[in-house]
Amino acid sequence: MSRFTAVAPSNIAFIKYWGTRDEERTLPYNPSISMTLSRCVSRCTVELLPDGAADEVLLAEGSSPAPAPPAFSEAVLRHVRRLAAWAGSGAGFRVAARNSFPTGAGLASSASGFAALTLAVLGALGRQVGPRELSVLARRSGSGSAARSVLGGYVQWPAEGAGEEGYAEALAEAGHWDLRNVVAVVDASPKQVSSRQGHRLAPSSPYFEERLRRLPDRLERVRRAIRERDLEELGPVVEEEAIDLHLIAMSSRPPIFYWRPGTLAVLEAARQLRSEGLRAWATIDAGPNVHLICPPEDEEQVAARVGALPAVESVIRDGVGEGPVESSEHLF
Ligand code: DP6
Repeated sequence: MSRFTAVAPSNIAFIKYWGTRDEERTLPYNPSISMTLSRCVSRCTVELLPDGAADEVLLAEGSSPAPAPPAFSEAVLRHVRRLAAWAGSGAGFRVAARNSFPTGAGLASSASGFAALTLAVLGALGRQVGPRELSVLARRSGSGSAARSVLGGYVQWPAEGAGEEGYAEALAEAGHWDLRNVVAVVDASPKQVSSRQGHRLAPSSPYFEERLRRLPDRLERVRRAIRERDLEELGPVVEEEAIDLHLIAMSSRPPIFYWRPGTLAVLEAARQLRSEGLRAWATIDAGPNVHLICPPEDEEQVAARVGALPAVESVIRDGVGEGPVESSEHLF
């Protein structure tokens, strides 16, 4: 039977998606802008089974794929069934997945995971779609950031003028600007509060509207900084935006605290590094780990310095990437 493997990258948002305007269709209150990564990836193999055969979901974390936990399987199969219905297919599916990085620790594993799953299901079904439709189908998984992970380089979702279709579009290719992302992992355990819950609670924060008011200017500054490859312009906006996301999370009703003591230690280290002339600005997704955006020439030192902090468990070094690819290395 037809088998297809896709590898899709994670992404790190410079301007965050935080708050869902339309949960049914996964449409955000505000456009977000991200950098697609290169090393933090999800691999997904999908095989078509005869019509009506029972679906099967495997996790390929160890040496051989094993049945995935029920919650994981359900989330995967919901999306598989949605895609099958869209394609008018009655086939069964065998799915296996593997991440190259810790799952559920604020490293956007659902973005890369659902992007890879979308591509692998479409590939196994022999369906080809353009990038816009692909991002819409990936987003239907319920992971909005997956809409950005189907594209390489620097990506905005929803794109300018996308309206209710809400597709993503690349602002620049990966080759336009070589930026690095040094992730200081201070806690790799799965987060206690999902992004979905965070999106739901966001409008209950008294600061939610204020951030939305500031966003058009912020988005424009980030787009300009990307266009002009200006890290001194980009860095401060990115750091300010990440702090605002967490300000909103911490002031939602009930509040959500993603930060750990190590988060503050890394934020402090970033300020110290800058005072010494290194260029590194922090951003933090819905988790405790800190992503430091820096240029290639400072990456080595930034990684060494934050890696030496007692609060940092490990360091992941990544950079801008080209987007998803098909692979002949199947997981089963
Ligand atoms: C804080 O609902 O897209 O990372 O990957 O499950 O976190 P998860 O999914 P999603 O929320 C992303 C929230 C964010 C900001 C962002 O990536 O824009």
